[in-house]
Amino acid sequence: MQPFAIAPSILSADFARLGEEVDKVLAAGADIVHFDVMDNHYVPNLTIGPMVCTALRRYGITAPIDVHLMVKPVDRIIGDFLDAGASYITFHPEASEHIDRSLQLIKDGGARAGLVFNPGTPLDCLKYVMDKLDMVLLMSVNPGFGGQKFIPRTLDKLREARALIDASGHAIRLEIDGGVNVKNIAEIAAAGADTFVAGSAIFGQPDYKAVIDAMRAELAR
Ligand code: DX5
Ligand code: ZN
Repeated sequence: MQPFAIAPSILSADFARLGEEVDKVLAAGADIVHFDVMDNHYVPNLTIGPMVCTALRRYGITAPIDVHLMVKPVDRIIGDFLDAGASYITFHPEASEHIDRSLQLIKDGGARAGLVFNPGTPLDCLKYVMDKLDMVLLMSVNPGFGGQKFIPRTLDKLREARALIDASGHAIRLEIDGGVNVKNIAEIAAAGADTFVAGSAIFGQPDYKAVIDAMRAELAR
């Protein structure tokens, strides 16, 4: 298990003031900036690309940026995010023609690599690429939008992923994304997650620090 990390999803931030929003959420105690990339093809929504990641780095953000690619195809955008200063790059296995190759592209570029599993996608391919992974991300909603409800069945899948990661002996983060809030974060941690994405639960409140402190208090229970 990796140390707990809170990763606010900037999908729910005010894009007109993105640099300030990221500064504010980091000052409030966030560990990682979760950066959702949607292409209106793999998922039915369109968000931000590598230029925005570059802009955040130029603005002075030094915290890890966790780029969650919801795009298809995957490979041709990886290089741009490596150049843009991504720390983690994760993608959905069904969006890549060659999963092992895409992971290697990320690793060769010096970023940390991860796979993302939708609620209905089995973890089957995990065991074949475990040695190339720094992160496993389980979606607890169907990807494409913030503000959806956590799918409870994900808790069993988290336990399954936790067992596979522990058995591998590798230092791999187990991240959860979708519908995470102060009320359910303790149960999600108990099921094996160590990295928590939260968009609407944090950016939907005026006091980001109050939410992050409350999440940490739940994690310390
Ligand atoms: C959904 C995104 C999530 C989203 C989470 O496709 O991957 O990162 O922003 O938002 P909340 O926390 O509001 O469910
Ligand atoms: Zn995400």
